[in-house]
Amino acid sequence: MKRVLIIGAGGHAQVVADILLRMHETGADMIPIGFLDDNPHLLGEERLGLPVLGPLAAIDAFEYDAVIIGIGDNRTRRMIYERLTMCGKSFVVARHPSAIVAPDAMIGAGTVIAARAIVNAGAQIGVNVILNSGCIVEHHNYIGAHAHIAPGATLGGTVTVGEGALAGIGATVLPQCTIGAWSVVGGGAVVTSDVADGLVVSGIPARPHGIMRRHVRQLAPRVYRGLG
Ligand SMILES: CC(C)(COP(=O)(O)OP(=O)(O)OC[C@H]1O[C@@H](n2cnc3c(N)ncnc32)[C@H](O)[C@@H]1OP(=O)(O)O)[C@@H](O)C(=O)NCCC(=O)NCCS
Repeated sequence: MKRVLIIGAGGHAQVVADILLRMHETGADMIPIGFLDDNPHLLGEERLGLPVLGPLAAIDAFEYDAVIIGIGDNRTRRMIYERLTMCGKSFVVARHPSAIVAPDAMIGAGTVIAARAIVNAGAQIGVNVILNSGCIVEHHNYIGAHAHIAPGATLGGTVTVGEGALAGIGATVLPQCTIGAWSVVGGGAVVTSDVADGLVVSGIPARPHGIMRRHVRQLAPRVYRGLG
């Protein structure tokens, strides 16, 4: 039985814990054993019956077989993924039993596929991606590493989503469009043509949104201590 540590203990981490618990209940050969989080106030608390064990820097004090990152912010998630990978940690894929994934879809290590997400034929999903609740990733999509397809977002066939990009809640991306690396598609937007790297778009049809204040803040990722 693979023992899995979840990095982070916030809202998304609890979603990941729930997915892993349901996988365990339905026969998967893995079980979540707790969370690591740098917030000292969380130490000893429980989430979904699982303990917050300590900070990330203490990871090697625990007995575990694999990790998964439960942090929604794409840049922070990438930073931790790269550090853990450099330290030789192994990642699991968290796939909710209600998700529908085509048998030939390729899913990268550390990716989270939430409840009722659909991943269709020929899709390629990178490492450390979030495919959130009820999103639709149509056939032959390519989703780059560390991207996040938010709840209810729909990507038409042959869409490309660059590394670290966010397709916001309920966004629609028409077939064959490309969302550039680290771009943000606002909630509810409809993307009808390619979006350049690093751009924020919103509206119907999606147009450049200007400087996104939250995105600017995200450029300074939350600092996780430890692991160099
Ligand atoms: C589009 C977005 C990136 C803009 O962020 P922001 O620049 O911080 O935006 P603000 O909240 O400061 O709003 C700025 C203006 O844009 C409008 N706006 C915000 N989001 C919008 C959206 N999705 N579509 C249309 N207009 C939007 C606001 O109403 C506001 O308008 P106003 O100036 O006329 O009052 C953000 O609102 C968004 O949609 N993010 C996606 C979040 C998401 O889905 N996360 C996944 C979580 S699981």
